Amino acid sequence: MEADQNKETILIVDDTPANLEVLIHLFQKEGYKVRAVTSGSMGIRSAEHDPPDIILLDVNMPEMNGFEVCRILKQNETLSGIPVIFISALTDTFDKVTAFETGGVDFISKPFQIAEALARVRTHLALRKYQRLLEIRNYDLNQALAQLKEAQSQLINSEKMASLGVLTAGIAHEINNPISFIYTSSLGISKNIDFFLELQKKYEELFEQCDGSKIQELSVFKEQNDFSERMDELKLLTANIVNGAQRITGIVQSLRRFARIDEADMKEIDIHENIDSTLLLLQHKINNRIRVVKEYGPIPPIPCYPARLSQVLMNIISNAIDAIEAKKEMTDREQITITTNVIESNGSTWATIEITDTGKGIPENIIGKMFDPFFTTKPVGKGMGLGLSISSNIIREHGGMVEAKNLEQSGASFLITLPVQKPEYV
Ligand SMILES: Nc1ncnc2c1ncn2[C@@H]1O[C@H](COP(=O)(O)OP(=O)(O)O)[C@@H](O)[C@H]1O
Ligand SMILES: [Mg+2]
Repeated sequence: MEADQNKETILIVDDTPANLEVLIHLFQKEGYKVRAVTSGSMGIRSAEHDPPDIILLDVNMPEMNGFEVCRILKQNETLSGIPVIFISALTDTFDKVTAFETGGVDFISKPFQIAEALARVRTHLALRKYQRLLEIRNYDLNQALAQLKEAQSQLINSEKMASLGVLTAGIAHEINNPISFIYTSSLGISKNIDFFLELQKKYEELFEQCDGSKIQELSVFKEQNDFSERMDELKLLTANIVNGAQRITGIVQSLRRFARIDEADMKEIDIHENIDSTLLLLQHKINNRIRVVKEYGPIPPIPCYPARLSQVLMNIISNAIDAIEAKKEMTDREQITITTNVIESNGSTWATIEITDTGKGIPENIIGKMFDPFFTTKPVGKGMGLGLSISSNIIREHGGMVEAKNLEQSGASFLITLPVQKPEYV
C-alpha cells in the first residue's frame, strides 16, 4: 500500500528555484515521482502532456499567477479532477476565499513545515484516490442500472405478451362458439330453403290447375315434411344467427373496452365496464365450475389509464382462478366475488374494488413477498411472478394501492383502492 501510494506523481509549479529544490527533495525522499516547473504556462503544458496526481501551485508568480493557472486547469475536462494545493509565503496577502473559489483544495505556506506539507499532500492524494474509485463504482452502477432497466422493460413486455396469450385464447374460445352455431344454423337454413322452394313450386302448379287432387297432394306433402316444425326451426335458426352475431359484437366491444388502445391518457371511466369486459375475456378460464358474483356499489367515474387498469384486473382475477384450480379438491361452490364501493378515508374519497376467491389461500410465509418481481409459486411456464408486482406499480401510478389478505374461510382477498377526484363527486 505504502509503495503504491508513493508511486504517485506530484507536479510542482514555483518560480523560486530554492523552493523547488526543498520540495523536490522532500517528496522524492518519500518515494513520490516529482516533476517541477518554474512558470504557470509550463505547469499547464506539463499537466496536459501527462496529467499528474496532484499539483502544488505557487500563488505569486510573474506572467500568470497561481489562481489564473488553477482556473485554466479546472476548465479542462481531463485535468479538472486533479487536486491543486496552493503554496503561499506567510508574508503574502493570501486570499483564501479566491483560492477555494478557483478550485484549490488546500494551501501550504512557506517556509514549509515539512510534516504539515507531507500530511496535506498525502491527505489529498488519498481523497483523490477514493474519489476516482467512487467515480468508477458510480460508472459501473450506472451501467448496471441501465442494464436492469432494459431487462425490466423486456420483462414487462413479455408479461404483456403473456396476458396477450391469455387474451387471444379467450377471444378464440368466445368467438368460436357463436361462429359454430352461426355455421350450423346456416346449413339448416339452406336445407329448409330447398324445401320451401319446392313448396313454392307446388303452390304455383296448384294455382295453375286449380285441381282438387293437387290440393290434397299439397297438404299431404306438407304434413309428410313436418311443415310447421320446419317453420319453427327456421325461426329458431334465424334467431340463433342473430344471437351469435350479437355475441360476437359484444366480444369485440369488450375487447376494445379492455384494450382501450385509443385511450392512452388518463380519463374518467366506469370501472364496472372494465371489470365486465375482463370477466368476459376470462370466461374460458372461469368456465362453469366457478361462479362469479358481482356486488357493484355506486362508484362514480374514476380517473385512470383504462388499458392499464384492465391489465391489473386481468392479473388479479387470473390469480384467483389459478388459486381455485390449485385446490386439492374443487367443490361445486367455488366462487369469485367482485365487490366495488366508495369509502371516505384520510379526508378523501376512494373507490375500492375487492376481489375475493375461494381458492387455496396465500401461505403466511409468502404474503410479504408476493408483490416482489419474479416471485411465483407456479410451475415454470405457468407463472412469471410479475403479475402482482406490475399490478401494484400500475395502481401506485394511479395514486392508489393494492392489499392482500387471507379470508377466515379458505381463500384470499385482494383490495384495490383508487382515489376519486374530490369536488365533482363528493
Ligand atoms: N388469489 C391468490 N390466492 C393465493 N395465492 C395467490 C393469489 N394471487 C397471487 N398469489 C400468489 O402470489 C404469487 C405471485 O403472483 P403473480 O405476481 O401474479 O405471479 P404468478 O401468477 O406469475 O405466479 C403466485 O405465484 C401465488 O403464489
Ligand atoms: Mg399472476
